[in-house]
Amino acid sequence: MKSEDYAQGDAFQAEKRTIFSTEWLPLCAERQVANAGDFLSTTVGGWGVVAVRDKAGDLRVLRNACRHQNMPVVGTPSGNCESLRCRFHGWTYDLAGKFVAAPPPVAPPDPKADLSLQSLASARDGGLLFFSIGRPRSAPSLGALPAYGGTLSTDIAGNWKVVVEHLLGERREASADFAWHWPLLAVRRAGTLAIVEQIMPQTFLRTRLLTHVFGGAADLHKPAAATIKLVCERLQADRAAGTIPENDGVLLAEFRRRLRQDVQLAL
Ligand code: FES
Repeated sequence: MKSEDYAQGDAFQAEKRTIFSTEWLPLCAERQVANAGDFLSTTVGGWGVVAVRDKAGDLRVLRNACRHQNMPVVGTPSGNCESLRCRFHGWTYDLAGKFVAAPPPVAPPDPKADLSLQSLASARDGGLLFFSIGRPRSAPSLGALPAYGGTLSTDIAGNWKVVVEHLLGERREASADFAWHWPLLAVRRAGTLAIVEQIMPQTFLRTRLLTHVFGGAADLHKPAAATIKLVCERLQADRAAGTIPENDGVLLAEFRRRLRQDVQLAL
C-alpha cells in the first residue's frame, strides 16, 4: 500500500468501480427503518442510496438519483414520509420508487415512460440490510445475533481503509469472538453481546462508522466509538505522511491481499 492509496481520490474511484460496484455493501440495521414510510439516505462507497419501507412493510434500496436531472431526491439523512419528493424541482415518487407526478413546467415529455428510481439488489442478514450495485458473488452471512439494541454513528475524517485496518489490527488472527466480513463489516462477540462495526466509505477522506449493538444498549459504547475516531484520525495523518505499517497480522494481510487482487483484477 502507498500513501496515495489513503489520501487521494483516484484510489477511491478505482475502489468504487470495483469493490463497491460488485460486493454486497451493508447499509443500515433493519430496525433503523422499522415503520412504514421510514427512510434512511446515505452514501456508501461513493453511491448515493436510500433505504425505504413501503406501506406494505417491504424494504427496498433505491438509487438516490432523480430521473429528472440525476440530483439526490432525498436530502435528509432519515425520517418518515408518504412519498419521495425531489427537493430540486418537485418530481415525486411513491415509496416503491415509482414516478408519480411532476409540476407542469418540468413534467416529463412522455409520462408513460418508466421513470422509476433505480431499485438495487438488496438482502437482509443478521438484522442488517445490504445492497449491491452489480451482481453479487455470494450472499452476506453473519449468523444469528441477539436482539437489536441500537446504533451509534461516528464520522471519521479519514479513508475507509484506515478504519478497517485499525479494527483488524487489534486482532492478529481470526477467533471465535471476532469475525471479519469483506469488505465493510466486523463482528465482535462477548457473552450475550454482539457489536457489528459497519464501515461506510463516503469520500476518500470521509468515513462513517456505524456501531450496531445487539444484546445491549448502544449508548454504553459511545466512549469506545470516540476512541476509534481519535485513533483512526491519527492513523490517517500517519498514512498521509507516508508511514504505512507492515502486515502485522493474518487478518490485516488478508485484507490488503484481497484489496489488491479485487481492484487490480477489475481494472
Ligand atoms: S432533479 Fe429532481 S426534480 Fe429536478
